Amino acid sequence: MSGERIADWFDGRLGIHSLGRRYLRKVFPDHWSFLLGEICLYSFVVLVLSGVWLTLFFHPSMNEVTYHGSYVPLNGVRMSEAYASTLEISFDVRGGLLIRQLHHWSALVFVAGMLTHMMRHFFTGSFRKPREVNWVFGWTLLFLGLFEGLFGYSLPDDLLSGTGLRFVNGALLAVPVVGTYLSMFLLGGEFPGNDIVARFYSLHILVIPGIMAALVVAHVLLVVYHKHTQFAGPGRTERNVVGAPFMPVYLAKAGGFFFLVFGVLTLIAAVASINPVWQYGPFRADQVSTGAQPDWYLGFAEGLVRIMPGWEITLWGHTLILGVLIPIVVFPLLLVFIGVYPFVEARITGDRREHHLLDRPRNRPVRTAIGASWISLYLILLAGGGNDIVATRLHLSINTVTWVVRIGVFAVPAAVFVITRRICLGLQLRDRDLVLHGRETGVIKRLPHGEYIEVHEPLDQARRHTLTAHERPKELVEHER
Ligand code: HEM
Ligand code: HEM
Repeated sequence: MSGERIADWFDGRLGIHSLGRRYLRKVFPDHWSFLLGEICLYSFVVLVLSGVWLTLFFHPSMNEVTYHGSYVPLNGVRMSEAYASTLEISFDVRGGLLIRQLHHWSALVFVAGMLTHMMRHFFTGSFRKPREVNWVFGWTLLFLGLFEGLFGYSLPDDLLSGTGLRFVNGALLAVPVVGTYLSMFLLGGEFPGNDIVARFYSLHILVIPGIMAALVVAHVLLVVYHKHTQFAGPGRTERNVVGAPFMPVYLAKAGGFFFLVFGVLTLIAAVASINPVWQYGPFRADQVSTGAQPDWYLGFAEGLVRIMPGWEITLWGHTLILGVLIPIVVFPLLLVFIGVYPFVEARITGDRREHHLLDRPRNRPVRTAIGASWISLYLILLAGGGNDIVATRLHLSINTVTWVVRIGVFAVPAAVFVITRRICLGLQLRDRDLVLHGRETGVIKRLPHGEYIEVHEPLDQARRHTLTAHERPKELVEHER
């Protein structure tokens, strides 16, 4: 009874009952690919939890100290407080290394989750009206996530992160006219300056996570507002959603999945080392670590710079470093392309209708081919970003690898586009064959005149519906008449 009174008290003030009545029965379609959004959500939660824990021990300061902690090889070495506190977290704080590794692994999985989730929505066309704004929210999360990761792994001030910052500084310096000012402004002086760790720290723990958290809330609220899209199937229309209700089915599944994601991330963090900063040593401006790579998600930006010829031109007495300037212009363009794609597609196809049923990728050959070719470009640039590693592992000359990537950047996406489109068309023909002639049963029959044929069995109605529930291009329909 007292529970009821407490519930009444809150309901009178917060209106929880009517809110619950409205949303607790919200229907969630059942398809594995919806778990990708949840992986993003849960790894973000793990990042925030582990990140807040790290702030208790991390000192974002570049003041020099002499190390006397328990990692003996660096005993007596001068280093920044940031680096010393990262060593302390790793070796002297109980559970510190586990949480540091959990934070780093979660970051890697978070961005991988976002990219996969994005491409799943890309290939199935769920970005179409009315979800374009939510696509842009999601895209902004991805964009911020890339920089959040960069700022994060720059914090420990080890030799690897310092080499990454040198790259950032080089990119800023290549900006025409204001490059030097930008670099001075960011670093608070000549590279490496004394301020960068503290500045990145504010951005990393406050500004960017704040914006991201707000965007995640808006993103998920918009999913509730628009309702989920669903794949075509019997009983599924543009106006309904078929699935299980939020309470109790979805809540139980989602709750369980959260702990699964958290558990798997913790397991990886416990058994797989990541970013062992003690091996790299503290950052010193006169040293560069070999095999320096950014985290995988920014590898494509590194690739762009590594494969670019070192072109320079001089205009009105000023040198333009095209070898760096062109990559830093192409880098955001590559991302912007995918961000604005929904608007470009709507404009080119002239399709401005609402869509709540998803496409099967094969039924949109051009879009699918564009997506596949974008991914291939990303991957080939990633290989370019690790040209030194590829060269040493495969015993090749680094110039050979660089030239292969240079040619590949143009050739591979084009080839992938053509091949993917052909595969989609082929798969469409196979679907058509299945619908018209049924499924092969493996039963061979001999006819009275001696001929052997395979018996085909008509598909059941549900499958026929699923395979035919898509629009066919106007040209094809007219052609068949
Ligand atoms: C922090 C990152 C993100 C989180 C936590 C997140 C979470 C979610 C969740 C839970 C859903 C509902 C179910 C599902 O489809 O998985 C969803 C839907 C959606 N997300 Fe994300 N997402 C993130 C990033 C992105 C990105 C990078 C994009 C694309 C650029 C994107 C585009 C979409 C779209 C278009 C939908 C609506 C799909 C529908 O109604 O079927 N999201 N997101
Ligand atoms: C949302 C996405 C986030 C990403 C992608 C991310 C990524 C990273 C990465 C890659 C590192 C380097 C870890 C290492 O030392 O190996 C890092 C460090 C750190 N992050 Fe985050 N982080 C995120 C959110 C947060 C939040 C919300 C907080 C705190 C409120 C936080 C606090 C920290 C701190 C204090 C460090 C330095 C400690 C250390 O490097 O050991 N992070 N982050």
